[in-house]
Formats: sequence, structure tokens, C-alpha cells
Amino acid sequence: MTDHGATPEREPVEIDRSAAHPARVYDRWLGGTNNFAVDREAADRAAAANPQVVPAVRANRAFLGRAVRYLTGDRGIRQFLDIGTGIPTKNNTHGVAQGVAPDSRIVYVDNDPIVLAHARKLLKGSPEGVTAYISGDLHDPGKILQEAARTLDFTEPVAVMLVAVLQYISDDRDPYGIVAQLLEAAAPGSALVVSHPASDIGAEKVSASMQRYNEKAAVHATPRTHQQIVGFFDGTDLLEPGVVQLPQWPGGESEPDAPPLPMWCGVGHKPNGGR
Ligand SMILES: C[S@@+](CC[C@H](N)C(=O)[O-])C[C@H]1O[C@@H](n2cnc3c(N)ncnc32)[C@H](O)[C@@H]1O
Repeated sequence: MTDHGATPEREPVEIDRSAAHPARVYDRWLGGTNNFAVDREAADRAAAANPQVVPAVRANRAFLGRAVRYLTGDRGIRQFLDIGTGIPTKNNTHGVAQGVAPDSRIVYVDNDPIVLAHARKLLKGSPEGVTAYISGDLHDPGKILQEAARTLDFTEPVAVMLVAVLQYISDDRDPYGIVAQLLEAAAPGSALVVSHPASDIGAEKVSASMQRYNEKAAVHATPRTHQQIVGFFDGTDLLEPGVVQLPQWPGGESEPDAPPLPMWCGVGHKPNGGR
């Protein structure tokens, strides 16, 4: 879907209210209202088991904004493939990127119909740039790449954004192969942006919180270790300071003595001759 003029604010979609869905649970944690009773129950029970969940989600949005600003402003990237977009909120990828470089081109991808329902908000970009939305599944990167190529030029650098989404790809669905396929299609000079729930920061609370979430969830989430997250950057040059906790990525802020947030994040650069 691309922005072709006067259309209703919301697309008609079918919504499953019998189980909690990631986009709606995340919306609840961010204080949004695009969620249902089952999402609120899963979100609130998970957050009660780990009080760091909501601060982590906020810090994750802040990381997304800093990474996009950095890639647009300092690295000159003008194309973004944002997979696992989420329900539109403040500082979406196109708003940040086009705020720095109005000619930026953004393709959003999500597999949840509720995100499609709100996708109009993602398509109101700058007149100089382009935004597009694809209903697509990260399990099928080939199809995403094929559809994204209508908007993005894969012979030029692209930032592949996998922000808080890889946890929904279980180990038996080859998350590393999926990331490799996306990176392979990207030109040298491209970037990979990843954030991911940590299984090795406050491990007991993370496990309890994920268990509560997964009890109600349509799609289970898998937290991963620092080493496992570093593995997603295979074939890239991991930019300083490497894979770190969210507030530690450049430009972040954290309260002194604040407990660590249970997510890892990083940005990699695809070198010449990279995969
Ligand atoms: C936790 S939200 C993250 C939103 C945004 N990237 C951020 O970090 O603020 C995860 C998003 O990924 C989407 N998602 C989950 N599994 C997916 C899949 N297999 N393919 C595409 N999107 C997926 C969910 O629908 C949800 O919108």
C-alpha cells in the first residue's frame, strides 16, 4: 500500500481478540489505546512480573529514534526497511528520517492487521520522500524484499530495521538465516539495526514476565543472550559501542543507579565485500 491520495483513515481489517498480539501489547506498554482486554491482561501481568518492561519499551523507542537519526544524519542513509513496525506512535521511522532528510524513502512491514488498519498514519510523509506499507511476514524475507523493491533501490544502501521483532522468530524458524537473507540483498554501506529482549539481564524476572506474556499470546516470544544477539550482526561491522543495553547506545540517557533494562541493541554496517 502506498499513499495515493484520499482514502479513509483506517483500513477495514479482521482482528483476533481471543489472544494477545505483540503490536497491541506493545501499544498498551507505551500507553496507547489500540488494544483489547486480552492484550491488557497479558501486558499488565508481564509488566507486574518485571517492572523493567515498561521502561525498556520506552527506551527501545528512544533507541529506534537515535539509530534512525544517526543513520540519516551521520551515515547519509536515505532508505529504510522497517520490519515489525508496530502501531504508529510518536517518532516513527519516517518522521525521524524525513525530519533529517526529507527525501528519505521508507518501507514499513508488519504482519498484524491492526497495524495495517492504522497504516495511513505511516504514509503521511514528506512530499520529497516516499513511505509505503507492506502486509508481510518476517518469516518470508524473500517476499518482503520483492515487494519492497518497488519502493527501495537495493543497489543503494538501506537500513534494515529489526527493532524488537526478532524475538517472535523462534530458533526452529532460522532467525539467523532470515537476517542473512535480508542483508545479502542490501548494498554495501547498508545498515542493520536490531534490538531484542535479553535473557541474560535480570534473567529470573525476564523469564517470569515472558512466561506470563506467552500464556496469553498468539505468538510466543523468545528472549536471547548477548552472544546470540551479536550473532545477528554476522557479516557486518558492528558499530561502536557494539551490542549494549538500550540507554548505552550513543545519545541515550539513564538515571544513575537505575536497574538495567532487559534488552540488547546494536547497529551494524555492511562493508564492501560483506555478505
Ligand atoms: C514489539 S513491536 C515493535 C514495534 C517497533 N519496531 C518498535 O520497536 O517500536 C513488534 C512488532 O512486530 C510485529 N511482528 C511480529 N512478528 C512479526 C512477523 N513475523 N512479521 C512481521 N511483523 C511481525 C508485531 O505485529 C509488532 O507490530
